[in-house]
Amino acid sequence: MSNTRKIVTIFGTRPEAIKLFPLLHVLEADPRFDSRVLVSGQHRGMLDQVLEIAGITPHHDLDVMHPDQTLDALTARLLTGIGAVLDLEQPDWVVVQGDTATAMCGALAAYYRKLPVCHVEAGLRSGDVYHPWPEEVNRKVIGSFAALHAAPTETSADALRRENVDPAIVHVTGNTVIDALHWITARVAAEPGLVSGLSEVEARFAGKRIIGVTSHRRENFGVGMRNIANAIKRLAAREDVALIFPVHLNPNVRAIMNEELAALDNVALLEPLDYPHFARLLDICTLVLTDSGGVQEEAPALGKPVLVMRETTERPEGVEAGTAKLVGTDEDTIVREVERLLDDDAAYAAMAKAHNPFGDGKSAARIADLLAR
Ligand code: UD1
Ligand code: UDP
Repeated sequence: MSNTRKIVTIFGTRPEAIKLFPLLHVLEADPRFDSRVLVSGQHRGMLDQVLEIAGITPHHDLDVMHPDQTLDALTARLLTGIGAVLDLEQPDWVVVQGDTATAMCGALAAYYRKLPVCHVEAGLRSGDVYHPWPEEVNRKVIGSFAALHAAPTETSADALRRENVDPAIVHVTGNTVIDALHWITARVAAEPGLVSGLSEVEARFAGKRIIGVTSHRRENFGVGMRNIANAIKRLAAREDVALIFPVHLNPNVRAIMNEELAALDNVALLEPLDYPHFARLLDICTLVLTDSGGVQEEAPALGKPVLVMRETTERPEGVEAGTAKLVGTDEDTIVREVERLLDDDAAYAAMAKAHNPFGDGKSAARIADLLAR
């Protein structure tokens, strides 16, 4: 009888793919595991960008994405589709990451079959079920029955213990996003051609200070997005800065940003960048303006101040370390906080310290060892 553990890893969006490819690389190379990859296709284009650079070929692809999908229709498609694959595969472990609809449905479909779930990036909590929405509830659902919680930091492990999760199944592993960042940095160093797609915009903005921007949060749709666009417009009026904004494929983001920002000289609205190009953007920018979760972890690791356009964060470690600051989505506040970093050298220096509370780049190996126990 074989002692090989069959692992089905389930994911569907860009950030999950980025944070799981380091674990998949480890599982694929380790004879203790039979690694099977199930992608939901919740994101089509942005998922495929990551699969390609990371060299991951899924065994199953549900291709569930619909334009401007609603949460309930997406959830229904995910749950039934994932359940059917789990019935076929009969794994020893199901691995999910983070807090997306795919992660929640993957975990729930496993629970319905009494299969043990390993939750990667467990224990993040904002304490507010509408910020971020619906992610706070998605991760609490997964956390309520996971058999193994890979918490990135002591803070996230504490949150789980406070919810009475058995401490024996909570492990601080670091966040695999740092493994991913190390991997992509090494790839780009070996193959500089991987980031040549930014050369044109870099030349166009030579001599200006670059602000990297991303935005996609559901709770910011409407007024919040409009405020963000207006703040960018005001910042773009400065001659000394340029804003590079790879725009998320969600139509709710694209419509507003294209309408408000497409014609501005100091703004480059780009298609979503693949991971090498996004790492390059982080490298060349002076500061980052974002409502993303993953970017809040990557920017501090690279010593880039990050202003977070959210009311709360489930990643307090960057704020506590002084490399991240919550600025919400008020137009005046965003402009004021960006200008403070641009015009006050001491304020900039205080935030621009490379600090890495989220991991040491060895998280995937730790998680694999836990799965093998
Ligand atoms: C999802 C996750 C969110 C995560 C984010 C990362 C949920 C509920 N939301 O939000 O937690 O932070 O991904 O980016 O799980 N689209 C495309 N191509 C793509 C990707 C998206 O066209 O490659 C468009 C489609 O019209 C799609 C829409 O964006 O319907 C929304 O995608 P969806 O995955 O539902 O939500 P996100 O806002 O991307
Ligand atoms: N990212 C990318 N290309 C882009 C923007 C972001 O590769 O154009 C990467 C980024 O490095 C980070 C992840 O995507 O690892 C974050 O994804 P997103 O902001 O969509 O989701 P969140 O982290 O907020 O769930």
